[in-house]
Parts: sequence; C-alpha cells; structure tokens
Amino acid sequence: MIASSHPLFAKGLRGLLQKRPQGDVIIVGLAATIEEALSALREHRPDLVIVDYDDKIFNRDEILARLVEGEGRLRVVLLSLGAGGDEAIVYDRRTMAASQIEDWLEKWTDGQEPSDLPVIAIDNGGGASAYPTRRKHMKHTIFAAVLVAILTILSIIGLEQIQLLPEQASVQAEPIDFLFDVEFKIIAFLFALIVGLMLYSIIVFRRKPGDDTDAEHVEGSTRLEVLWTLAPLATVLYISFLGAQVLGETLIPDPQPLELRVVGSQWSWRFEYPQLGITATELRLPVNKQALLRLTSTDVIHSFWVPEFRLKQDALPGGDDMVRELRITPKTLGEYKVRCAELCGLHHATMLAPVFVLEQEEFQAWVDEERAAVSDDPVERGQKWTAQFGCLACHTTDGAPGVGPTWQGLFGSQERLQDGTTVEVDPGYLRESIVEPGAKITEGFQNIMPADIARDMTDEQIEDVIAFIESLK
Ligand code: CUA
Repeated sequence: MIASSHPLFAKGLRGLLQKRPQGDVIIVGLAATIEEALSALREHRPDLVIVDYDDKIFNRDEILARLVEGEGRLRVVLLSLGAGGDEAIVYDRRTMAASQIEDWLEKWTDGQEPSDLPVIAIDNGGGASAYPTRRKHMKHTIFAAVLVAILTILSIIGLEQIQLLPEQASVQAEPIDFLFDVEFKIIAFLFALIVGLMLYSIIVFRRKPGDDTDAEHVEGSTRLEVLWTLAPLATVLYISFLGAQVLGETLIPDPQPLELRVVGSQWSWRFEYPQLGITATELRLPVNKQALLRLTSTDVIHSFWVPEFRLKQDALPGGDDMVRELRITPKTLGEYKVRCAELCGLHHATMLAPVFVLEQEEFQAWVDEERAAVSDDPVERGQKWTAQFGCLACHTTDGAPGVGPTWQGLFGSQERLQDGTTVEVDPGYLRESIVEPGAKITEGFQNIMPADIARDMTDEQIEDVIAFIESLK
C-alpha cells in the first residue's frame, strides 16, 4: 500500500515498480488520507506500507504508529522519490537504483527483512517511543550538551587566567567589572556552543569511507527558530537592563566632591583645581575621595580615559555649554595614565598625562607645595605655564622640528610668513600669536594651534610665556 497525499508520489512509485522485469508486486491501495489508509489496512492487510517521506500528513510518529497498530507482520517504510523517477530514497536519503529496489521489495514480500538496507520499522509492541532514531538523537543531544558545558567552563577559566582588564582602581570600576564578568561568561558559553557543536559534528558525523550519499533532508524547525529568536532577545534585554543599572551606580554623587576642570588640547591635558587655585599637567587625586571632573576642550573632541578607573568621557569643544561630567572615586594608590580615547590628530597617540592616586596627607603636601612654588622669576613662571597649557606638545625649545615653530632662537629673528612677507619676532608679535594664533602663520606650518588657548590664561601668564620664549633666543 502506498500512503501519500501527493498523487505524483504514487504515480512515480508505480513507474518505478513497473521497471521491474516481473510484475509481482501488487499495489493493494493508494491512501491519500489517514482514514483511507486505515480502512485499506483493515480491508487488504498489505505486507508493506510505503509512506511518502516528504508528506507532512503521514510522516509523523503518531500516524506511523497508528498504521502498524494491531498488525503483527506489517512494516512501514518511509520513502522519497529521486528526481527523474529513476531512484527511490529510503528515509535516511540513501539511494537505490531501480534494479536494487526490486531485490529489496522481493525480500519484503518473502516476509524477511532486508538487513543490509536502511529501513524504518516500527515494532507493534513498542509504539512511537520505540522509534530508533529518536533515541539516537537524544544520545547525540546529551553528548553534545556535555561537550558544550565542559568547553564553557574551560573558556571561563581561560578568560579569567589571561586577565583582560587592568587593575581595578576606582569605586566606579566595581559595578562595571561585574558587568564585564557577566558578559565574559555569556561570551564563553556562546563560544563553546558554536565551537562545541561544530567540533562534535565534524568528528561524530564525518563521512565514513565509501559513503557518498546525501545528508538527511531537514525542512526546518519552528520550535528551534522560536528558541533562537527568543533566547538572544532575552539575553540582550537582560544585559541592557544590567547596563542601565551599572550606569546609574557610576553616577551616584558625593555631596562634597573634589572639583576639577579638565581641559584637553591638541595634544595635552590640563587639570585645574578651582577650589585649590592650582593648575597642573599631572592629575593628582586623594584616595577614597570622589573627584568631580568637568571636561572641556579648546579645539577638537578628545576623550578622557584612565583604564584602571574604567570610566571614559568625551571632552568637547564649545565652552561651558558643552562641559561633560565624570565622577571618579579612586580606591587604589598608584600611578596610572590618562589616555585620549578619541582620534584627535597627529599626536593623538601621545596625548597622555600621568595620574597619581595619593594618600590624603600626600595630596595636601602637594597642594601646599604647588601654592608656595610660584616663582619670582618670570622666565621660570613662563616655563611652568608653557607646560601647563600644553604649548610644548607642538613647540620645542631645543631647535628640534615640531608641529609648530621651535622657540629656540625665535625671539628677535625674522620669520617668513605664509603670504611671503617677513615679520620681526618681538613681544607684540608673540602676544598676537598666542591670543589669535591664526592671524599670522609662519611659512611651512599649518594653522592648527587652538584658537582659544589664551582664554584661560591671565595677562601675567602671557607676559611670563613671552619672557620664557625671549630667554631662548
Ligand atoms: Cu586628544 Cu586623541
């Protein structure tokens, strides 16, 4: 009996059977529905039911089980027809030529099972649960799951060993590291899931020597598709929830923070302590006290980043409206580095500044020292300001080439300008070049000095800087 709701299947199979030299197979029934199949079974008692493998009505465990119900000798075979009508494909896609199917059917009609060929046989007693491939699938699932679990654990241990994150030096780093930890574990699992299943498939399902058949034909699985859509969605939502929570924790304000103004310029950092009246090129912070950083830039976008603090924030040009805040509570004494984390031009990579986390007493000692250290000598003061305002990132004092003209021998010299004219370098020209850097550009250089560098300088500081440049003539 042939069970298929597709008329073409029955037609094709008949065609195949007609190629047999002796036409002794009798097709006792063609069933297009389950009811037809059951009544044909009762009426004709066939030896063999050939079920269309590609037919969604018949190729279901419970239907196959019903077809053999109460029939001791009956065998059910799942069959698919190959293109061109020359071959039949048994359920696992092994192909048989027309001459082979003849032998195979003969053995069925003789009442003996063709042991050398793959045939799905459902035992009367066992029911659907005795479906042999089911158990095999379950075995593979369990082995693969164990492999994935082991790989996940190994990956987590491996990730912990290589220490991806530097020292944790701020209170705000704690929730951030917790989030990193969760993400590393998810990453380890995903890595294990993909690599584990791939390795298992490559090894266990590799082609046996001499086997040149196709793989099992899989149409799709709604259950699997729903699962692999919902699981990543839930994971992403969970991480964004955690992320929002962690962000909130890093923003918790202290009522009395140490206030700082942090100014990025191409290509240096300046740290102003308005409460203490100090400006510095190195960031010094007392341990266990929250620092409130107000970040700004004199030219392009920079980004303040100390990896050990884990926090990162842009320093934007545009004055007070564009100030961005960052709260850092250092908790580990030590020396770190501010890095610029936004590509900002030629010397972006060297836009670094040292960071010191100090004991409260040490910090106070430094504050006292800085306040007392303002020299009587304008040249000495000027040298200090040039360091603080980042001038030395572009101008050298020893004649070496730089982004801007060197200061060695500059004062009193004749400078050729871009427009071909010549100017004498005197205090008036130097002042103009500091306050309005774009006014006169020296030949061979570009107009890239921050336009408002002098905004934060006092008149005295500018005088001091000019005195320092004069001292280098
Ligand atoms: Cu400033 Cu990169």
